[in-house]
Amino acid sequence: PASAARDEEGALVIGGMPAAQIVREHGTPVLVLDEDEVRGRARAFHDSFASAAAQHGTTARVYYAGKAFLSTAVARWVTEEGLNVDVCTRGELEVALAAGVDPARIGFHGNNKLPSEIDRAVSVGVGTIIVDSAIEIERVAAAAERLGTVQKVLVRVNSGVHAETHDFLATAHEDQKFGMPFTDAETAVARIRELSWLEFVGIHCHIGSQIFGVAGFRESASRVLELHEKLREGGEIPILNLGGGFGIAYTSVDDPTPIEQLATEIVDVVAAGCAQRGIPLPILAFEPGRAIVGTAGVTLYEVGTTKPVRLGSGAERLYVSVDGGMSDNARPALYGAQFSARIASRTSTAEPALARVVGRHCESGDIVVDHEYLPADVAPGDLLAVPATGAYCASLASNYNHVPRPAVVAVSGGTSRVIVRGETIDDLLARDAGITQNEGAR
Ligand code: LLP
Repeated sequence: PASAARDEEGALVIGGMPAAQIVREHGTPVLVLDEDEVRGRARAFHDSFASAAAQHGTTARVYYAGKAFLSTAVARWVTEEGLNVDVCTRGELEVALAAGVDPARIGFHGNNKLPSEIDRAVSVGVGTIIVDSAIEIERVAAAAERLGTVQKVLVRVNSGVHAETHDFLATAHEDQKFGMPFTDAETAVARIRELSWLEFVGIHCHIGSQIFGVAGFRESASRVLELHEKLREGGEIPILNLGGGFGIAYTSVDDPTPIEQLATEIVDVVAAGCAQRGIPLPILAFEPGRAIVGTAGVTLYEVGTTKPVRLGSGAERLYVSVDGGMSDNARPALYGAQFSARIASRTSTAEPALARVVGRHCESGDIVVDHEYLPADVAPGDLLAVPATGAYCASLASNYNHVPRPAVVAVSGGTSRVIVRGETIDDLLARDAGITQNEGAR
């Protein structure tokens, strides 16, 4: 987090709290979330897109993509800072509702929303449902009819722009499950317009995640505006939602564009595209997840063992095992994602050693930080901080090897508070249905 600093002894301080103190209060592993940073980034997204949109006489709506990390506290923080909330399951929806988020400020996503989820979303009055298939249009309409309400919907289209991590490549017909190709989208919108229980409010597209720069958004917006223009023949289209995907820095090689600049450039591109086509600029919606919470999180682990391994090249790699791993951060195993690590409990003048931070799971792919130089004297008992774990770590966590999932702790102004309780072994056992009499007798 931006607030991270070192105290006089060289120990890490996050949100005004020394790492060692956080660990004394909450144990390890623990995901520490800097509340001020989450709020600050939410506010920055809100303000930057609002002012960029105002420059062109329209408004912006920013939805926090809860899949990155959702708890009632986080839902409350981001909505207090002006954001709406994007959910993609009943579970995420219920967390947002439990946080007191106004249902009208919730957007509901998913390529296979369950009929029961659709019913729940329509009945609580979610602002928009982003429909992903022709079948779903009929389901949402049926639910709205049953509940006697008109549901606002956006149609998710596949703009054919596939964003890669540091790059993007355009493919005309993308082979993936989300959204509808343009021709299907035209049919879908026509159908929605026929259905009195649905109100068509806009087009949605999302090109990917951890995207740097605006090139991908520019390409996607320009393609989607073509569709937008065509669809306007059948009626007004108030909203254009360009999704999320704004990249963050995981390691020092990543260089994300500042939020304000992103907002200006993206909104300018859309405004120019609309002007060129002579169509009014719609309300612009965005759905950042990672860029709100990613860098605000840091995971603290305790080092359990270290073990030098001689490599074929003659070099040596120090394996540093921590008390967590792929169950609390699956991203390296899933995507080959890169993170960094440093000793949080002290400074060291020891020579840097090539290290690999690994977890405690029974799998050699259980890597937390693949490649890092750590002081050669890193030892059992040291606290290790892995920054930029605020997004898609807790939300992707598992109980692999029956490891309880860690607590999420918010820090602000020198105090800490649990926002998601850590699991206990009892929590794990509570799900085990137990042994029947028969099994016991065998
Ligand atoms: N909107 C839609 C429709 C999405 O599918 C996503 C992410 C977002 C917004 C938010 O994207 P963000 O701003 O967070 O990049 N587990 C992966 C990321 C999966 C993203 C899925 N959809 C990871 O850990 O990198």
